[in-house]
Amino acid sequence: MKFLIINGPNLNMLGIREPEIYGKETLDDLMKYVKNYCDPRDIDVQFFQSNSEGAIIDAIQGALGKFDGIIINPAAYTHTSIAIPDAIRAVSMPAVEVHLSDITDREDFRKTSYTSSVCIATVKGKHFDSYLDAVEILASEVKATAAMHTEE
Ligand code: DQA
Repeated sequence: MKFLIINGPNLNMLGIREPEIYGKETLDDLMKYVKNYCDPRDIDVQFFQSNSEGAIIDAIQGALGKFDGIIINPAAYTHTSIAIPDAIRAVSMPAVEVHLSDITDREDFRKTSYTSSVCIATVKGKHFDSYLDAVEILASEVKATAAMHTEE
């Protein structure tokens, strides 16, 4: 099983950026944490981070045929981008939205997610563990879909 994990704008600043909200650990720490969880479970993960909406859209489009699913933290684009959910819909791949913080328990403008409607689930507020929950949800979905196809 192969998942692409996409992190959006300013997540490259983890560790420096608002540590009282996002913690003191870096994006590198996050990637190691997720990889250490996935390796023994035979889940291959690749990471992509960009501060640009277009580059994120290119990464989603590029995942078609190469990955079984996408985990995405669109960061601030969660609340503004229509093009990112359009790209997820275009590739018709299972996707899970993740957030380190609880976006429903912060400023009002963070309560709207344009991404959530195209994702099978949203995991928020669990810091790095949001990503591990997302891996589990996506793995179950991919397995269930594969089992359905072998039954046909
Ligand atoms: C975030 C929440 C967003 O509102 C914010 O813009 C981010 C990070 C999170 O992971 O908690 O950049 O997606």
